[in-house]
Amino acid sequence: MDMELEQILRPPELPMNPYPPKVITLATGNKMVVRPIDRSEVPVLLKAIKPTIKIERDFYDVVGARLYAELLGWMKHRVRNEYCLVGQIDGVLVGAVNGRMLSKKIGISLHTLAIERGLRIGAHLFASKMEHHIEHLNQHEVWITAESPLGFRRWMIEYSLIKQEGVQHELGGAESFKLTRELYYKNKPRLVCGSRPCPPELLEHAKKEIIIADEKTITEQICGAKGAWKI
Ligand SMILES: CC(C)(COP(=O)(O)OP(=O)(O)OC[C@H]1O[C@@H](n2cnc3c(N)ncnc32)[C@H](O)[C@@H]1OP(=O)(O)O)[C@@H](O)C(=O)NCCC(=O)NCCS
Repeated sequence: MDMELEQILRPPELPMNPYPPKVITLATGNKMVVRPIDRSEVPVLLKAIKPTIKIERDFYDVVGARLYAELLGWMKHRVRNEYCLVGQIDGVLVGAVNGRMLSKKIGISLHTLAIERGLRIGAHLFASKMEHHIEHLNQHEVWITAESPLGFRRWMIEYSLIKQEGVQHELGGAESFKLTRELYYKNKPRLVCGSRPCPPELLEHAKKEIIIADEKTITEQICGAKGAWKI
């Protein structure tokens, strides 16, 4: 690799505080570890996201394709100030979220993808992402857009996000909304869950290996009963 040219191609990065791992007890009693990953863990995530690109249901295809590209770009140092948090139950990947810092003050929510459904895993991971921007990256606001009706319901409606007139989110043409610090702290008691520190044995288990289901299982988990949904 031509490192001289590579230094030009690699974007500069703002200093970013790490996300402190936490554990969320789900409605089933399962414990989901939420933790940041580093670039070396991206390839295994890409393997889990790839099958979603073929799933039309609930716009998994659009979100999966974009998340795949964003994580690949981050791994190869082609995106500025990005991070990714994952949710794992017993080491198994159940969802992922990513975002980035547009500037010191403004955060960008990129994508949220739940692989295991019906447990508000996506909602918890999105809340963790908002927590990261506001409490750990100490940002003033987060810009958010929705690409699916489920996303719109989970973010815009559940958080009463503020519509931004005349602002375009970097994901494109849909309406841009924002979460301010004030709105975050108003919603926090209702929507941001989990406890810290994450018990060391759970964290070690999660870090040891990101276990991913095979394509068939991932598709069935996302689409519900076998064959019930158009893929
Ligand atoms: C949006 C998303 C992150 C929300 O994740 P979540 O909070 O874990 O919620 P789920 O996806 O499990 O469920 C959402 C709703 O669909 C229902 N649902 C749909 N398919 C389901 C399935 N196979 N199993 C269980 N529930 C299902 C749930 O009952 C739930 O209804 P509710 O809102 O009344 O609770 C997730 O649906 C997702 O990854 N969607 C595809 C990508 C996407 O749209 N991302 C957001 C872009 S803005």
